[in-house]
Order: sequence, then structure tokens, then C-alpha cells
Amino acid sequence: MTSSLLTVSYIGASALFILSLAGLSNQESAQRGNLYGMIGMAIAIVATAIGAGMNGFDSSNYVTLAIAMIPGALIGAVLAARVAMTSMPELVAILHSFVGAAAVLVGIANYLSPDQSLSGVEEGIHQVEIYLGVFIGAVTFSGSVIAFGKLRALISSKPVLLPARHVLNLGMLVAILWLGSLFLNAQGYAGLIPLLIMTGIAMVLGVHLVLAIGGADMPVVISMLNSYSGWAAAAAGFMLSNDLLIITGALVGSSGAILSYIMCKAMNRSFISVILGGFGAASGSAPAAAKLEGEVNQTTAADTAKILRDAKSVVIVPGYGMAVAQAQHSVSEIAKTLKGLGINVRFGIHPVAGRMPGHMNVLLAEARVPYDIVLEMDEINEDFPVTDAVLVIGANDTVNPSAMEDPNSAIAGMPVMEVWKSHKAIVLKRSMASGYAGVENPLFYKANTEMLFGDAKKNLDEILTHLR
Ligand code: TAP
Repeated sequence: MTSSLLTVSYIGASALFILSLAGLSNQESAQRGNLYGMIGMAIAIVATAIGAGMNGFDSSNYVTLAIAMIPGALIGAVLAARVAMTSMPELVAILHSFVGAAAVLVGIANYLSPDQSLSGVEEGIHQVEIYLGVFIGAVTFSGSVIAFGKLRALISSKPVLLPARHVLNLGMLVAILWLGSLFLNAQGYAGLIPLLIMTGIAMVLGVHLVLAIGGADMPVVISMLNSYSGWAAAAAGFMLSNDLLIITGALVGSSGAILSYIMCKAMNRSFISVILGGFGAASGSAPAAAKLEGEVNQTTAADTAKILRDAKSVVIVPGYGMAVAQAQHSVSEIAKTLKGLGINVRFGIHPVAGRMPGHMNVLLAEARVPYDIVLEMDEINEDFPVTDAVLVIGANDTVNPSAMEDPNSAIAGMPVMEVWKSHKAIVLKRSMASGYAGVENPLFYKANTEMLFGDAKKNLDEILTHLR
């Protein structure tokens, strides 16, 4: 492969990645977007592997590459094919950690086998690239492992707040800067020790930063780590002088940063306060959230079917419980049946419903719910007062009125789906348990709320039988 063909392949792959992102911005074009991304990545891998031949790669190197890549590709394909939709966020988190680990290893390897052609200022810049790349990679690696643990419920979702944690973070950053100056001024391989110590400190920093972030802020953490993994890849691209890796990393890094901003806006949080952590913690001096008491109305599948049949307009609000129950196909059938009865049926999606961005949209698309009846929170919220019935399916935090009514609630200020403003809200869940943020929900005690307890899929199938 000539170097110009390599450049053309890289430009082609970059264009496909940009088209892929553009496609993913809309449900109708998402599948096409995915395809562009896959073709772009295939071109990138083949071109990079063949291009390496021009840089002195011989056949034994290709054997090593195959030994690493083929089992990796197989394991990845099997894992991705098998993963349940409910475990997708954990998979994404652990994949981010791999990007971080790769950036650390590439950085250390790059330091140990330096590019002999570099000297003077260029060599200095390369050393900075290595140090920064290893730093971002180490924070991404350990932070993503903790995020994986929290999403898998292996670690409590409550924020871990050490005394003087900000001073601790600051101390670690100062130490990293000081080690950086040692690294840059070291002769020969003497910089390896400060580099490895910094890697250790950066990993502790990543663990500490993510541990301090409470359950309700996890959506921001996931998109933030997604962004970090992009910057780690871009840094690896600089270290390896690989333009495509720089472009791809920058695309992932910037789109992750935009997503973090959107998530923060959806939760009415400032990015800095999320990063500094502590949201959802019970602080000793803060007034406690209001204690909930009152009557809970229970209903049956038959009565729910009657309410739905008598309604003129119905809004369905899904949440994480719909993913757990795998109830999306039953929900889709109910929507179709109600539409057949002449009822105006729409879906309302909260931006952080479920456990990953777009979680509910993916499930509804899989169950072939038409896109034009799936609305975002801002589009549907003002329609609740004129809605006859709302079906809340396994949603909890995202329909919690305490976010608006109780300034001491841990989720105070977060915009929510205002389902209690409708004439009747029917909540499908298994118990009175709280949602991911661990906050009690006054919706369940409202006079116009009915609770339909049990597994969402089982209850929806029963409702469907009564509707038919
Ligand atoms: P949650 O508040 O997590 O509540 C889900 C509810 O589903 C639970 O209260 C549970 O109640 C119910 N449930 C579970 N399994 C069920 C089943 N088989 N059948 C019926 N109900 C079932 O959900 P949400 O409203 O979607 O809110 C999402 C939360 O996750 C937010 O706090 C958000 O910040 C956080 N989060 C979001 C993301 C992203 S990016 N979307 C990432 C991480 C965290 P029972 O146990 O009583 O059934």
C-alpha cells in the first residue's frame, strides 16, 4: 500500500465516521449510521494493518497482531451479541475502560521505544503527548471500572464522600504536575519511574472522582467517561502519529462532551458540580426530604384495561423497569390496539430514563413503535393536563414530583415527566421500592394515581387480553 492510498483510506474512514454520527442523531437513520461506522472501522483496521507493513512490519509482526486481534474480535462479537439490553450500559462502561487501558499501555510502550527521528522541541512535545495520554487513559480506565461496578450494583450507587475530598483531588493534581516536570527533565529511561507513579495516582484520582458521584448523576458520568475515552484515543493517535486515531478520538471526545452537556441540562445540574460529586448524599446539616405517608390506590389489569378503553388520549411513559421486564413488545401491542380503538396514543421519553442515553428509544424502535408517536419530555409535558390516562411502565425517578415540590429532595430541580397532572396515572411496578436515585416517590400516594403491582410484562399482557 502506498502512503497516498493509506491517506485516502484514512480520509474515507473519517468521512464515514462523521456520516455515522450524523445518522445516529435520528432514529430513522440510526441503522444506516451504524453501518457507516462499521464500514469506516473495517477500512481503518485494514488500512492501518497494511500500512504498518510500510513502517517495517514483517510477517512475524502480523502473526502477533492476528494472535491479539482474532480472539479479541471473537470475544467482542459474542459478548455484544449476547448482552441483554439491561446490561448494555455496563458493557459500554467496561469498553471505555479498555480504551483508557490501551492509551496507558501505548504511552508506556511509546516511551520505552522512542521514535529516534525526533529531537529537540519535537521530542519534548512528544514526551508531553505521552504524559498527557497516559494520564487521561489512567483516569478513564479506573473511573470506568468503578462506573461499571456501580451500574452492575457491585458497588453502592451512593456517593462516597471522604473528608477534605477536594483537597485530596487538588493534592493529587499537584503531585501529577510535579511528577510531570520530573518526567520531562529526565535523561534516558529515568522518566519511567515518575511516569509509573503518575499512572498510579491518576488511577486513584479516577476511582475517587467516580466514587464521589451519586446514583442520580450516573448518566453524566457515563457520557463524561465516553468523552474521556475519546480524548485518550486522540492522545494515543498523537503518540503514534496516526491521523485517523486523532480524528476518531476527537469525534468521540467532543460528541461525549456535548452529550454530557445535554445530560446536565436534562437534570438541571451544572457540569462542575457533577464532577465535584456529592449529589444525592445525606448531608448532616441539610434538612431531610419530606417523609411520605398516605393511602395507596391499587388496581387490577382488568380495571386498567377499562380506563384505557374509556380514554380519548393516552400517554405511555416507560422507564428502566420496562427494560428489566423486557416489556417493549407488549407495550407496542397495547399502543397498536388502543390506536385501533381510535384512541390518541403517544409515548413520552425522559432524557435520562433507563440506564443509558436513548435506552427507551432503542427498546421502542426494536418493538417497531412508530417514531412519530415517540415524543421527548419537553414536547409532551404540557399535554398531561389534557391527557385522560398515563401508563407509567417501570419509571420512577423520572416521574417523581418531589423533584419539583420538595426543595430538600435529593433530586430537587431535575425536570421530570409531570404525569400526576393527567386525569389518571397508572403505575406498573413490582413494589413500593424507590428508583435508581433511592428517593421516595409521592406520585404513588396521589389521589389520581393507581398502582398496578407485579412484573410489567405479565401485567401488560393481561391488560392486552382484556383490551382484545
Ligand atoms: P428508576 O428510577 O431506576 O426506576 C425503575 C423502576 O422500575 C423501579 O422503581 C422498579 O420498581 C421498577 N421495575 C424494575 N423491574 C421491574 C419489572 N420487572 N416490572 C415492573 N417494574 C419494574 O427508572 P427511571 O424512571 O427510568 O429513571 C432512571 C434513573 O436511572 C434516574 O435516576 C437516572 O438518573 C438513572 N440513570 C440513568 C442513566 C441514563 S444515561 N439514562 C444512567 C445511569 C443512571 P420495583 O422494584 O418496585 O419493581
